Amino acid sequence: MLFFLLPKTMHTSFVGKRIIVGVTGSIAAFKVAGWVSTLAQEEAEVDVVMTESAKRFVTSLTFSSLSGRRVLTNMFSAEEEGTISHIGLSREADCIIVAPATAQTIARLTYGFADDLLTTTILAADIPVLICPAMNVKMYEHPATQKNIEIVKTLGYKVIEPECGNMACGDYGKGRLPDWHQVSEYLLKELSDGDLKGQNVLVTAGPTRERYDPARFISNRSSGKMGFAIARAAFRRGAEVTLVTGPTSLDWPAGVRVIPVVSAQQMYDAVMSEFSNSSVIIKAAAVSDFKSAEHHLEKIKKDDATLTIKLVPNPDILQALGARCDPKKQLLVGFAAESSDLEKQGRKKLEKKNLALIAVNNIASAQSGFEVDSNQLVLIDHNGVTELPHTSKIKAADMLWDYIVKNKLLKT
Ligand code: PMT
Repeated sequence: MLFFLLPKTMHTSFVGKRIIVGVTGSIAAFKVAGWVSTLAQEEAEVDVVMTESAKRFVTSLTFSSLSGRRVLTNMFSAEEEGTISHIGLSREADCIIVAPATAQTIARLTYGFADDLLTTTILAADIPVLICPAMNVKMYEHPATQKNIEIVKTLGYKVIEPECGNMACGDYGKGRLPDWHQVSEYLLKELSDGDLKGQNVLVTAGPTRERYDPARFISNRSSGKMGFAIARAAFRRGAEVTLVTGPTSLDWPAGVRVIPVVSAQQMYDAVMSEFSNSSVIIKAAAVSDFKSAEHHLEKIKKDDATLTIKLVPNPDILQALGARCDPKKQLLVGFAAESSDLEKQGRKKLEKKNLALIAVNNIASAQSGFEVDSNQLVLIDHNGVTELPHTSKIKAADMLWDYIVKNKLLKT
């Protein structure tokens, strides 16, 4: 029997969240204008607080146009007075992000200065504070800055490491503001209710490649999108996440430990060395069932009209896990790519591979399964069948986690 679970999840979204963006005086301030625009489009309420030196790089008009709200710059301005105070500002917000955070601002936060609206707001806040340092590499690596960063971490502020790269001043090194797709994951983590906190999650994703000569391999259409979405959603909800992935063109998800592999045997080895530390294991990878019996050292010539490759089976990683996992301490979840009889085929794999739960996707539909950005999952466990709605892969991943949490399938 099929029944429907309504898409209620709000776990990993900015909708309705109130975020203070503190902008300080660095050339990277222009990048944050794009972040504010994205947050506003994703229906967050963004209050931008600028320091005096930030206004030298980007005008407050830029931020107010993008956020659709007034920008706060001055603790004592007659215009701003009475409408909002530093106390009220942080009391009404869900999170503060300081980006870019200069060496000067980090030093002031280290010692609890309260000499402008931004530092005062942070000092008065009991909400999560994220700090994104951005500065010249020598300033970033200076022992004073490094010491200050260690101190602000002990104060409970989360520091997102800057990236390495070319800098506006011509230097090369660490100190660049990371891209929004990285930072947004940390911000969503701070905004989530952390219902996967304490879980060690192992996810597999993508295809495997089975080489048969130096130029060619057998593989499948998996893009890795579904498995990456499951890993991202778990990180946002507070889990420690390890992702074992076959070759994909996707950016590695922020905050997730990634183990790249190529062949099914390599995926097997990686999973076998990791699974005993995991409380949840989700196998969304499309593992090649077969590999060539021979690996030709030379490229096979196309002299003959036909080519016969003898295939031999790869290890079934999920089945091996089903035999080794401790169902009292570990939750084992499989995926199944099916084109017909979804429920029957899914249930068969659930039993055969000794799983607690299997997510079946209909790969006969153009909008589900391989490569596309959306999916429709049918969840089968020992209590019944639940059909999730067709949705984006990141929402489908969140719904899978919702199902696991609501049905108390977690073991720790
Ligand atoms: O990567 P995307 O483009 O986003 O596509 C997503 C997906 C379609 C790949 C994903 O949603 C999915 O269905 N993954 C499982 C695909 C698959 O291999 O199904 P299967 O029915 O052949 O295998 C069943 C389960 O056994 C899977 O959990 C698979 O990881 C596992 N398996 C299979 C063979 C094998 N040798 N070892 C395994 O562990």
